[in-house]
Amino acid sequence: MIRILSILAGIFFILGLVWSMTIDTIAFATDGWPASAEKEFHEHPKALSLSSDGPFGKFDKAQLQRGYAVYSNVCAQCHSLKLVAYRDLAALGYTPNAIKAIAAKATINAKDPLSGEMKDRPGMPSDHFPPVVYGGKGVPPDLSLITKARHGGAPYVYSLITGYAPIPAALVAKYKDFTVPSEANGLHYNPYFANLNIAMPPPLASDDLVTYSDGTKATKDQMAQDVSAFLVWTAEPKLEARHQTGFMWIGLMLFVTVLSFMAYRNIWSGTKH
Ligand code: HEC
Repeated sequence: MIRILSILAGIFFILGLVWSMTIDTIAFATDGWPASAEKEFHEHPKALSLSSDGPFGKFDKAQLQRGYAVYSNVCAQCHSLKLVAYRDLAALGYTPNAIKAIAAKATINAKDPLSGEMKDRPGMPSDHFPPVVYGGKGVPPDLSLITKARHGGAPYVYSLITGYAPIPAALVAKYKDFTVPSEANGLHYNPYFANLNIAMPPPLASDDLVTYSDGTKATKDQMAQDVSAFLVWTAEPKLEARHQTGFMWIGLMLFVTVLSFMAYRNIWSGTKH
């Protein structure tokens, strides 16, 4: 009886495996079904190498400062950065006075401590970047965590802002019901965006939208790389500390492993096998 039951249980598991394998094979062979423009024309992020990549990664402060310049001159017209406070910019190498000056240029709507009413005042280092009012089409997301919130991270952001292209004729010919981007519908073709049509107008449409204080030439590609690096920092300002803690723990664990091996040898040393 037990034997029959175990054979049945075995068959049950085998059937389960065969079933999931079949489903996966079909999905793999057909690359998702039905066919759609989003699947056929979507492109994976381009390669982007940043100094913060990998377990030994460290931030390149000069690049983060350039990225901050791009954010504040270009992206900040539409996107907020609400999880970052002005004083956090110290990590990019800005002095306390420079941070005070940066913050003072912002207008913050906050409770006035004397009257208790909401009032506009110049920003202070302890303030967070203020919300942004955007009147155009679409909803620009807050960028504080965007490199964590999107599959593909920084390379995705980099590809997206440099990836605008004319809509391929083959797409228009094959998928008649695809919304063709136009001035009227306020959409722009971008093969890196999930549905290929994005409401954000190309933000880095020409070179030299910023003047870098370190003399780096502000090409479109350079600005895109720098702002992507900056958005890695906003999403994970403690990345370097996390890497260091990781290595400390690995070291500690190796030490404990050696100790316990020696203790094992010691305890069993007098025993015959
Ligand atoms: C003129 C306004 C405007 C500017 C300037 C702008 N954006 Fe956007 N952005 C938008 C809008 C609108 C959306 C939402 C698009 C949508 O959902 O179709 C968006 C979406 C995004 C997204 C999210 C895409 C996704 O996967 O959901 C990222 C990332 C982004 N922008 C980065 C940037 C960066 C970096 C800059 C500066 C170089 C920038 N944007 C400048 C309007 C703007």
